[in-house]
Amino acid sequence: MSTNDGITDFEGRVAFVTGGARGIGLGIARALLRLGAKVAIADISEDALDRAGDVLGASPDRLRRLRLDVTDRQRYAEVAAEVRRDLGEVSLLFNNAGIIDSVSPSSLSYEMWDHVMGINLEGVYNGIQTFVPAMLTSPRRCHIVNTASEAGLLEVGSGFLYHASKYAVVGLSESLRRELAHFGVGVSVLFPGPVATEIVENTRRMRPETAPPHTKRVTEILDYAHRLLTEQGAPPDGVGELVLDAVETNAPYIATRDELREALQRRTDELIGAMRHAEGFLAGFGADTARLAT
Ligand code: NAI
Repeated sequence: MSTNDGITDFEGRVAFVTGGARGIGLGIARALLRLGAKVAIADISEDALDRAGDVLGASPDRLRRLRLDVTDRQRYAEVAAEVRRDLGEVSLLFNNAGIIDSVSPSSLSYEMWDHVMGINLEGVYNGIQTFVPAMLTSPRRCHIVNTASEAGLLEVGSGFLYHASKYAVVGLSESLRRELAHFGVGVSVLFPGPVATEIVENTRRMRPETAPPHTKRVTEILDYAHRLLTEQGAPPDGVGELVLDAVETNAPYIATRDELREALQRRTDELIGAMRHAEGFLAGFGADTARLAT
């Protein structure tokens, strides 16, 4: 089995999309249905699942809607068994559920660390541990797409908890891609720029009641972000199509816009500058850093 080929035979395959009831996940589900896949959408919001069923309008043999909190491992296993029984073995996995939240450094909170990491990072891992074992022995190619963010590539002011969770998703995805390649399982990571979804409001509703409240300034930033996304963000359905285009070519990275090139270049230049500095600096202590690095 070639390790570079993407997947083009979507017809009849079973896909599992977390956070699939709204926004980008719903866009991915719609694109999958258009290509003939059977789709299970899993989401924490019962209301959103109900609405998604109306919007997608597919028959029950092609669409399952499942209530799932991606941090709940036991429920995850139950849901996976249900999908396997009703639709078949999952060969396309979209770990997409996420929130955009953080705390101020002046009100650090273990609860918020657990909340953000639990959904954005552990939720991704729970999907992997649930579905990858069967993918390893599958006779067909399989594919996983993990949703990160531009905030997983660069510091863009989204709050350090959110950044930490998304950088981690990028590292996990890049490494897993290498480790799964010879099993015929592709891995891509999605870096959405602004997409027209209600993620800011959905995240606010999910913030634990006992978490430190946002400062006035952060509230204003979030209000602005909400307006920016909903008024100027990319269409989620278009992002869904872009994601499947990447599955077809087994692309490692999926971006939704070309705005960060200069900032990324600056970051890379600074990293390389630090390496050059270290080489010269440590040579003064007799170290051969080039040899040690290999
Ligand atoms: P959204 O809020 O429209 O959709 C996310 C879905 O995930 C919601 O339906 C929500 O109920 C669900 N969800 C949240 N926590 C969950 C949990 N614990 N278990 C199961 N489902 C859960 O948001 P959107 O924008 O579609 O976000 C999808 C992904 O894209 C997220 O990972 C987000 O971080 C990422 N992203 C979005 C950007 C944007 O501009 N909209 C930009 C960068 C990244």
